Amino acid sequence: MTTQNYAKGLEGVIAAETKLSYIDGEKGILEYIGIPIGELAEKSTFEETVYFLWNGRLPTKPELDGFTGAIRSRYDIPAGVEALLNTIPKTAEPMHAIRTLVSALGLHDPKPNSIDLPTIRDKALSILAQTPTLLAYFHQHRQGKPFTRPDKSLGLSENFLYMLNGKRPTPAMTKALDVCMILHTDHGLNNSTFTTRVIISTESDIYSAITGAIGSLRGPLHGGANEGVMRMLNAIPSVAASEAFIQEKLAKKDKIPGFGHRVYKAYDPRATHLKVLAKQLAHDTGHTDLYEKSTAIEAVMNREKAAKGIYPNVDFYSATTYYCIGLPLDLFTPMFVIGRVGGWSAHALEQLAHNRLYRPDVDYTGPHGVAYTPIEKR
Ligand SMILES: CC(C)(COP(=O)(O)OP(=O)(O)OC[C@H]1O[C@@H](n2cnc3c(N)ncnc32)[C@H](O)[C@@H]1OP(=O)(O)O)[C@@H](O)C(=O)NCCC(=O)NCCS
Repeated sequence: MTTQNYAKGLEGVIAAETKLSYIDGEKGILEYIGIPIGELAEKSTFEETVYFLWNGRLPTKPELDGFTGAIRSRYDIPAGVEALLNTIPKTAEPMHAIRTLVSALGLHDPKPNSIDLPTIRDKALSILAQTPTLLAYFHQHRQGKPFTRPDKSLGLSENFLYMLNGKRPTPAMTKALDVCMILHTDHGLNNSTFTTRVIISTESDIYSAITGAIGSLRGPLHGGANEGVMRMLNAIPSVAASEAFIQEKLAKKDKIPGFGHRVYKAYDPRATHLKVLAKQLAHDTGHTDLYEKSTAIEAVMNREKAAKGIYPNVDFYSATTYYCIGLPLDLFTPMFVIGRVGGWSAHALEQLAHNRLYRPDVDYTGPHGVAYTPIEKR
């Protein structure tokens, strides 16, 4: 075996073909099936974006109504999963809870293993509809509050905020969350999407694939970075202190959460939209200090790191956005799950349509011909 094709972290390795999202990391472009992400963020809804990714074209009005109606009709979770949810320690991290609960949905599916495409699509629809319910119920469970049952007259983002807080969100909050969901739906062969494709390529079930993807997303180098950004913003005492805080971290060679990306060497186009959203929401909710700290950090990073292609990524301004929507810090990464279920499912469908088992090689660097030493002689 040769090390010739070895790329640490699989950087630059093409491991799948996709028609779902296109990224030009040098120019800072992201498109879903050819449509620039900014246009979808402005004009689409999360449900329509998911339909688009799952079907390869935008829906007609009756198709969209049918799709959103089907999602709404499935907001309720199985009674057995609700019973399990009530046994989860209230101290559990929401990402651990949501991983376990999505996995548990498979236990209550009489045919969890079916992987023909229409069945996978049907199961994915339920996972998409029920992930927000699982998360909102877990949040209420850990506070010892009764569950706010889903309101099936509401879209996914509005209903989630309604279940989470027990009251209807403002249209501005709903719109902001919906835009966040659109921006987070798909993103090439990121780590958790790759995980989904790897698992489904064994012809395992969709619950296993999405559960594995949630595990991947939790890491601080992936979806967990948005919580790191918020912790950093909270740790900076004032806007004026931002520069010194960042310089100190950089001097210690610490990475600044919310900056840098394996693919983007230019401004992450999702961050462009989130920055606008964060500014507006911070203004509307009286948290302009958060936005100002963020722009102060960005200015330092721009001076110090832009030459190396390190810019804000999707997590940087989503932290302020989520905070201003009123989400608790430890629900930031789970929000990423809600949005990304749409993309993971689209990739599972795409993988299964042209499947070949993922099974890369390793370069063995250990010894050969080692004699076995009996235990008493070690
Ligand atoms: C996303 C990330 C993992 C990409 O990693 P990668 O492609 O493997 O790049 P590396 O970690 O090897 O970094 C390359 C160089 O840029 C620097 N760098 C990368 N991200 C940085 C950051 N956020 N802050 C400061 N320096 C950073 C590294 O220190 C390294 O510098 P060096 O060449 O002097 O050693 C990385 O940028 C990171 O850890 N960012 C912070 C976490 C984050 O926001 N993740 C969410 C991504 S959407």
